[in-house]
Amino acid sequence: MERDTVYILAIESSCDDTSVAILKNKEVLSNVVATQKIHEKYGGVVPELASRAHQSNIVPTVEVALKEAGITKEQLSAIAFTQGPGLMGSLLVGCSFAKSMAFALDIPLIAVHHMHAHLLAHFIEDGTPVPNFPFIGLTISGGHTQLVQVNSPSDMKILGETTDDAVGEAYDKTAKLLGFPYPGGPYIDRYAQKGTPKFPFTKPKVGELDFSFSGLKTQILYFIQNNQQKNPQFIEENLEDICASVQQIIIDIIVEKVIRACELTGIQQVAIGGGVSANQGIREALSALKQTHGIEVLIPKKEWTTDNAAMIGIVGYFKYLENEFATLDTIAQPRLKV
Ligand code: KG4
Ligand code: ZN
Repeated sequence: MERDTVYILAIESSCDDTSVAILKNKEVLSNVVATQKIHEKYGGVVPELASRAHQSNIVPTVEVALKEAGITKEQLSAIAFTQGPGLMGSLLVGCSFAKSMAFALDIPLIAVHHMHAHLLAHFIEDGTPVPNFPFIGLTISGGHTQLVQVNSPSDMKILGETTDDAVGEAYDKTAKLLGFPYPGGPYIDRYAQKGTPKFPFTKPKVGELDFSFSGLKTQILYFIQNNQQKNPQFIEENLEDICASVQQIIIDIIVEKVIRACELTGIQQVAIGGGVSANQGIREALSALKQTHGIEVLIPKKEWTTDNAAMIGIVGYFKYLENEFATLDTIAQPRLKV
């Protein structure tokens, strides 16, 4: 094998998608995502069903990823996997599989932090701009809402985070109230684009870089219940405007925190990540900060925003260069800290 060519096989199994990617250095050769449809009918991820689906998906997903990349497993330099945070049963499948594969091929094993991966996804070589260290990372997903100062691929400091629900949960729970299937974030986003944010919701009171979404969720619930008592067709008749109003308050909260984080740190570059960063309204509002505040917000390609293994692979690549390898007694860590 050429010394300067590193092939990483990466596995992401922290929640409800089984994903396997192959990277050649920083370039993605394949990124296969097996989405678990089973959870839709329950309105949320059922952990036990997720781990079972990972078990049946993992082998075929690895095979497809290798085939699409056009390489053999003997060419691989290392196996990277998501160590945490995430659902225990789901993480265990990826962790055990990665360990066995690394052991069988006698190549290094690399444990990756899921939240680091969401931010470092910006370093995937795909023609989009790459952030400069230090930068501010904003991870907004179904499980996390964090503002992080990223000093290097391995040195990150949390500046603020949610004290209760994640922003993705606020989207998904509101979507459920409105009758959308799970996960409902993309539906709210789509309907919001056709509506007017005419219903006022208020921002929660929390620490200046922290977030809170459970109060907003309750506010939306009472708002809908009160209006439905007066008009049982309230949701149907106002769906687009309700979505636009919910979207607007979430955008306002996020934009305010991003501006404050930049003021407090003196850093003017922000990289976003996590499933919610696929949101069109949030993308547009954050992009506008360049003009109004001189803050450059880097937005990854949509395929690197929701859970995917390519982002695990890029962290794997950085760790490979630093010889940061895991041993076979490494365990999955559902509550892994940043
Ligand atoms: O990062 P991710 O794939 O999984 C977690 O680690 O949580 O994020 C999934 C979350 C879900 O809550 C989903 O509703 C939300 O991302 N999401 C969106 C959009 N696309 C995905 N939320 C709002 N607008 C979107 N366009
Ligand atoms: Zn995620």
